[in-house]
Amino acid sequence: MHDEAPLLAARAEFPTLEKGVHLISHSLGAMPGRARQYAGQFIDEWENDSIDSWGLHWLPAVRSLGDLVAGVLGVKSATVAMLPNVSIVQAILASCFTFEGKRNKVVYDDLNFSTVHYVWQGQRRRGADVVVVPSDDGVHPPTEKLLDAIDERTLLVPISHVLFRSSGLYDARRVIERAHAVGAMVVLDCYQSAGTVPLALEEWGCDIACGGSVKWACGGPGAAYLYARPDVLPRLEPMATGWFAHAEPFAFDMGPMRYAPDVWRMIGGTMPIPAIYTARAGWETIARLGVDNIRRKSLRQTRLLRDLVESRGLRVNTPRDDDARGGTICFDFEGAQAVSAELVRHKFFHDYRPRAGLRVSPHFFTTDDELRAFVDALDDVRRNPPTTAARASY
Ligand SMILES: Cc1ncc(COP(=O)(O)O)c(C=O)c1O
Repeated sequence: MHDEAPLLAARAEFPTLEKGVHLISHSLGAMPGRARQYAGQFIDEWENDSIDSWGLHWLPAVRSLGDLVAGVLGVKSATVAMLPNVSIVQAILASCFTFEGKRNKVVYDDLNFSTVHYVWQGQRRRGADVVVVPSDDGVHPPTEKLLDAIDERTLLVPISHVLFRSSGLYDARRVIERAHAVGAMVVLDCYQSAGTVPLALEEWGCDIACGGSVKWACGGPGAAYLYARPDVLPRLEPMATGWFAHAEPFAFDMGPMRYAPDVWRMIGGTMPIPAIYTARAGWETIARLGVDNIRRKSLRQTRLLRDLVESRGLRVNTPRDDDARGGTICFDFEGAQAVSAELVRHKFFHDYRPRAGLRVSPHFFTTDDELRAFVDALDDVRRNPPTTAARASY
């Protein structure tokens, strides 16, 4: 077995792991102890340096977090902008385009994350021809159908790299190749892959990528990222914009917008600085441990978890092939939602999603004993099912 000791040693940096079994990195990453220290640092700077904090600390912190994320994404520094969340990222991207010409098609699948769908279907009002390709089984990305739907009229293909519902993994290279062959661009939402699945965005020629810090990055809310390939940038002139996207924000120029030459043209107004601070610790940990190492352990443990679940006769809703799945195992059975809620009450942190079932995610800090304890607890709760109805949860 590959040496997993350095990954498990990082447990010591996560005091939250003493509070419960954390199998929920697909939704909320574990809190690194250093996040508290960095949040305190922001407060101290605010108190001690007042307005000087912008130049001394805060603007440099936005750039350096962007570069830290770029390292994990495997792209060059200064190509990543930080924004509050993926919905805003997608809305800013949508505002870069008009849909009046012949090339007005936006193509993705029905396993996309809902927020992304809401933004793009909204563009119908502006003339976009939004095509949502149906999946066959709700588990695997409908790759062939998606490729068929991408044609000379396609402008954009905004898809999830790893699907939130099943952890199915798109072959991003194939989609990007097809899009480029017809002159379209791919917006790859890497929220469910970055930090647990290695990426090769530059090698794939990915046009635009995005994601956030809340999940696998262990960074908390408010610090999403947007990568744009440098040669794509001149095409990106967002209507949803603000003064920090200007080439000279402090000139307060009232003439026509002059966008920053770099990826900061995608940043609108003032950045969420407290979130930029708390996000740093998690990204540092991922960068230090290395996504290749994290992936090797994740594949082994998702296989183990799948075997444990299947040996109980439960239906797994995650692709079998290592190359076809991300870091989560989803499985379902009659009464699953109530059982899931009970397990969370016993501090086995995971979640339940309709048409997915229980979503359970080992990460770099997860021990095999924790996975076995989770499945033992699942057995117990299924033997004595809760009588109260489950509430919908986050
Ligand atoms: C693939 C994916 N995209 C986006 C989001 C969330 O978007 P936002 O940052 O706007 O909350 C999630 C999960 O919450 C997700 O799984």
